[in-house]
Amino acid sequence: MNEMIPAVSLQNVSAGYDNNPALENINLNIAAGSFTGIIGPNGGGKTTLLKVMLGLLEPWVGQVRILGQDPQENRRLVGYVPQAANINRRFPISVREVVSLARLAGKLPIFHRYSPADRNMVNYCLTRLDVLNLAERQIGQLSSGQWQRVLIARALAVEPVLLLLDEPTSGLDANASSMVYELLQELNKEITIVMVTHDTLAISAYVRDIACINHYLHYHGEPDISTDLIMQLYGCPVDLIAHGVPHRVLEEHGGRS
Ligand SMILES: Nc1ncnc2c1ncn2[C@@H]1O[C@H](COP(=O)(O)OP(=O)(O)O)[C@@H](O)[C@H]1O
Ligand SMILES: [Mg+2]
Repeated sequence: MNEMIPAVSLQNVSAGYDNNPALENINLNIAAGSFTGIIGPNGGGKTTLLKVMLGLLEPWVGQVRILGQDPQENRRLVGYVPQAANINRRFPISVREVVSLARLAGKLPIFHRYSPADRNMVNYCLTRLDVLNLAERQIGQLSSGQWQRVLIARALAVEPVLLLLDEPTSGLDANASSMVYELLQELNKEITIVMVTHDTLAISAYVRDIACINHYLHYHGEPDISTDLIMQLYGCPVDLIAHGVPHRVLEEHGGRS
């Protein structure tokens, strides 16, 4: 990992749908090796931000760089765990097939045969997420927690250097959530992690930086005790401003980028 080039760099980015802006004037650098939590209210633009990073949504203006390059160029280095609830699971495909498809990475499926290395990696990822016993099951026949873990296994099968996760523990109980966080912490020794989450436990215990998104980037910096407390009270530091509480806590960081 090149520590000098940010994993993610957004400059003056605005993006949206039809004529409705979802994000405006976002300036955000995420350092290589970081474990960043993206927080903010529903509809605040968190998923849109990930889509912009992935190159799935072209910004209206501004520049996006992933590991110093255009998102399309580096797409194969990025693992993505989409919001589980947004995915149609009626497609007749097994867990193993879904995770294996991640290994194709732009190759034409009809010409590609999975190598032993591909198969090993798929088994490894299924094992790490504790879903190997479900490998032959149809994805429509999983609980929401199992499906969530399959989506994480799929993102890991890419062998990403940057992992983007959209609310990866939303359907999980406390035990399964902790398992995922421990795994992410382990992975973070080698790769950069950006995770959208509402989970204050994750923010206080695992995440090392937070970016608060509500249409604009309101804050980017360390999640310390005071911001943590505020998140428990208000859900997000952005509400701190809205509620007219002194914004000393935000200013203290000086980490806004
Ligand atoms: N595919 C879409 N088409 C039109 N509007 C969208 C679409 N996706 C999201 N939006 C709108 O963009 C805004 C930001 O949404 P989103 O990024 O999903 O927020 P979050 O993930 O923080 O809940 C919301 O107002 C939402 O209604
Ligand atoms: Mg979302």
